[in-house]
Amino acid sequence: MSEAAYHQIRTGPSGPPPGCPVDHSSFRPLSAEYVADPYPTAARLREETPVVFAEDLGYVVVSRMADVTEVFMNPDVYSSENVQDPVFPLCDEAAAILADPEFDPVAVMSNRQEPDHGRIRQYTKKGFSNRRNKVLEPYIRRRAGELIDEMIAGGPPADFVAAVANPLPGEVVFRFMGFPESDDAQLKEWCGDRLAFSWGRPTPDEQVEIATKMVAYWKYVREFTARKRDQPGDDLASELLADHEANPDDLTYREVESILYGLSFAGHEPVTLYLGNALLTLLPRREVWDAMCADPAVVPLAMEEVIRWNSPQVGWRRVTTEDTTLGGVDIPAGTQVFLNLGAANHDPAVFEDPERYDLERSNARQNISFGKGNHYCLGAMFARLEANAIMETLTQQLPSMRLVHDQQVTRFPNITFRGPSRLDVTWDG
Ligand code: HEM
Repeated sequence: MSEAAYHQIRTGPSGPPPGCPVDHSSFRPLSAEYVADPYPTAARLREETPVVFAEDLGYVVVSRMADVTEVFMNPDVYSSENVQDPVFPLCDEAAAILADPEFDPVAVMSNRQEPDHGRIRQYTKKGFSNRRNKVLEPYIRRRAGELIDEMIAGGPPADFVAAVANPLPGEVVFRFMGFPESDDAQLKEWCGDRLAFSWGRPTPDEQVEIATKMVAYWKYVREFTARKRDQPGDDLASELLADHEANPDDLTYREVESILYGLSFAGHEPVTLYLGNALLTLLPRREVWDAMCADPAVVPLAMEEVIRWNSPQVGWRRVTTEDTTLGGVDIPAGTQVFLNLGAANHDPAVFEDPERYDLERSNARQNISFGKGNHYCLGAMFARLEANAIMETLTQQLPSMRLVHDQQVTRFPNITFRGPSRLDVTWDG
């Protein structure tokens, strides 16, 4: 069993692999223009330089669905060990804070390699059972209804992200895992920091502040796990601890803590963004929205095309373990690879007329927003169930909802996750 740190900290820039085409400045994923709309750049990269070293990022960017799929399906050549690492090197002061020996989560799932990954995933997967979904689905619908009612009571206009999309997915997964309600807001705040830490480009001062909070967040998860060991409940944390007690050498206590640390982020941040993207996509397409209001069976179809056309996750990463060739380009071992999921989801080789949102699209489910292969999103089914239940509740409760005109949509600049930070909506009183 080989354990690596959950976040590996890079302190120097990486250069282009010899022979790889280089993009000197046009691919700038943190620029305001790209954050607002990554798809024109995605199309250009896919057509002109589908495998290219992006100087601004220090990664080889891969943009065609066939190449992205090849990477996902060859985990021995393309390791996922870098997926939780800060994209850009950290300043020395922040790196020193994270060198605290007590900041010691280990790579467990998204960033763990075989065979350990499969072992840990098996234990965690048991928690995503039909029994749990049956308990959680009514909870999701009830809480969605309550939060929407509260939003309505406040009168239009309202920020849908603050009212529903931000709090609800956190509440759901935190109850699933066993975190107490009183800690929801604190956990959500830490997760915002974690997004900036691993996928954004914080300034040195921000890095220091975030690093301090990351240490506090990890300590919190450790204390929570210890409390659950003493007072188990009907939740994922208690189940994992019971598995550890039964098989202490097969699932270590540190792995249980680290799984909880991982899921406390993965289980809600992309769902929050997915809900925001859904409203941005569906509310202006009135015929689709009205069809959803008239028939809840339309909701899953509409939402699947949202996750292709306007994905909450437009990128993911890998690093090569050996010299290889991708799309005709030689890539040496140790190369950092950025998978341009947004570009692959709009690849005309897979999706006809890809820039069009098409409710009737028969192969929308071939989208790559949940990844592929051995690390395929463990929560994909759960995320779909949750988002669909929330959208069904919303369309039934507030069919007259629409976007406030001429609002400036802002998004947190980062290379992976994409969705509105706030979204003003209105409705008939
Ligand atoms: C719309 C929402 C979501 C999106 C777009 C999303 C996307 C992804 C992606 C792209 C990966 C990496 C796949 C790969 O490397 O091949 C992933 C992994 C993962 N996701 Fe999600 N996810 C979502 C929601 C969730 C939820 C709700 C949960 C849990 C409740 C979850 C848990 C996980 C876990 C545990 C992994 C690591 C799996 C592994 O490495 O074996 N995700 N997700």
